[in-house]
Amino acid sequence: MAPGSPDARRPSIALAITGASGALYATRTLAALLERGVHVELVVSDYGRRLLHDELSDVASVDRLIPFLAGKYGAGVEAGSITLLNNRDHGATLASGSHGCSAMAIVPCSMKTLAAIAHGLSRSLIERAADVMLKEQRRLVIVPRETPMSLPQLRNMVLCAEAGAMILPAMPAFYQQPKTLDDLADFMAGKILAALGFEHDLYPAWTGKAGG
Ligand SMILES: Cc1cc2nc3c(=O)[nH]c(=O)nc-3n(C[C@H](O)[C@H](O)[C@H](O)COP(=O)(O)O)c2cc1C
Repeated sequence: MAPGSPDARRPSIALAITGASGALYATRTLAALLERGVHVELVVSDYGRRLLHDELSDVASVDRLIPFLAGKYGAGVEAGSITLLNNRDHGATLASGSHGCSAMAIVPCSMKTLAAIAHGLSRSLIERAADVMLKEQRRLVIVPRETPMSLPQLRNMVLCAEAGAMILPAMPAFYQQPKTLDDLADFMAGKILAALGFEHDLYPAWTGKAGG
């Protein structure tokens, strides 16, 4: 798999990882997109890198995510490709509405980045790319993680939802009877994929009966 070079025949999705707890949700989402042959334009904030390292100590570095993902989720991830973008580069592809990235997910999304998106600050590539998604009326999936939440944080979620984003909190369900942390991550990644418009089998469809 080529580490860069977007392919016009492939869907292109922006994925941002910020410094909220839940790095496993990000890696599972990234792997699931790659397994579907997606070209992922990946941006990781400084604290996103720290959380990847702190929570998933076997991630050697963000530049070597594909070998990590292949080891954990299988060689199927090699169907897709990643372009890693610098969060300080406001001139990168995702900074422009003319770039053909159809959707973006921020997994997980810190309260800081949520606040910045709610107020259109565009101080980093992640914030600018989210702003671009909103102004172009494209799908923006925000996966916030914090508990409890303050009133400003709740209001920032409402502002983003009013602007057109989908707020998809990192709240895995238990009715599918998860046995492992990976089961919980599969559930969240499945929700995120569905929100981005992809079919998936990351968790069983509800049959009307728990575990059924
Ligand atoms: C170990 C650790 C866990 C954190 N967990 C969260 C969290 O769950 N939610 C959150 O909003 N911020 C959390 N933070 C704080 C953010 O990382 C911090 O506000 C950071 O400035 C966010 O920047 P970013 O959005 O550019 O990644 C955490 C920080 C650390 C070091």
